[in-house]
Amino acid sequence: MTGSPRPVFPTVPDLPPAVLLPSQSACLAAPLSVLRAATRPHHDRIDALMNLRRMRQPGHYLRVLQVFDSFLAGWEPAVAAALPERAPWLRARSRRPFLQQDLQLLGAPAGETAVLPALPSGAAAWGSVYVMEGSALGGATISRSLAGAGLGPERGAAYFHGWGEARGRMWREARDVLESELACPEALAQACDAARATFDTLSALLEKAMNERAPAA
Ligand code: HEM
Repeated sequence: MTGSPRPVFPTVPDLPPAVLLPSQSACLAAPLSVLRAATRPHHDRIDALMNLRRMRQPGHYLRVLQVFDSFLAGWEPAVAAALPERAPWLRARSRRPFLQQDLQLLGAPAGETAVLPALPSGAAAWGSVYVMEGSALGGATISRSLAGAGLGPERGAAYFHGWGEARGRMWREARDVLESELACPEALAQACDAARATFDTLSALLEKAMNERAPAA
C-alpha cells in the first residue's frame, strides 16, 4: 500500500560521496551507453525468461525470488572480494535484505548459494555491478505489475520495489561511480564482458529453475 511506513526494511543508506579521480575523467564520454548497448540482447533474454505476466503467478514468482536469492548469495561476496576498498559502499546498497524479507513473508525457503564465474579484475566487478544496480531501474516496471496482483512492498514484493522513491538518486550515484571507474577503454571492455557474463549466469539459473518441476504444495 503506498505511503505506509516500512520499518522492517533496510533504510536508504546515507552514502559517502563517490570519489572521482581527475585522471579517470578524460578517456571516454559515455561508458554507460556502451554497457547498455553491449548487454541489450542479454537484457532482452532475461526479461523474456522472467516474463512479467507470469511473475503474477505465485509459483513462478517464488522461483524467480529464490533464483535471485541464490545468485546474490554468491554474487555479493564475490564483488566485495574483487573491490575490497568499496565493500562498505556495496554493502550499503545491498537489496538482498528486501529479498529475504519477501521469501520469509511468502513462506519460501532461501535459495542455495550459487557458484558463479570468477570476476578477474576490478573493472570486471564494476561491469557486474552495472547489471545489478541497473536492474533496480527495471524494478519500477516489475513492481507496478506485481502491485496489480496484490503484491506490494509490504506483501512480498519489497525486492523489486527496492529503494522506492530513492531509486533514481541511488541509480545516479551508481552511474557516476561507474562512469568514473570505467572511463578507459581497457576497463570498459572488461566490464562489458563481465556484464554479459553476469546476465548470462543469472539467465541460466532462471532457465534451470523454470525447467524444474514445481515443488508440491
Ligand atoms: C521482467 C524483467 C525485467 C523488466 C520488465 C525490465 C525492465 C527494464 C526497464 C523498463 C528498464 C529501463 C528503465 C529506465 O531506463 O528507467 C531496464 C533497465 C535495465 N535493466 Fe531491466 N528489466 C527486467 C529484468 C532485469 C534483470 C533481471 C536485470 C539484471 C539482473 C536487469 C538489468 C537492467 C539494466 C542493467 C538496465 C539498464 C540500466 C541503464 O543502463 O540505463 N533487468 N529494465
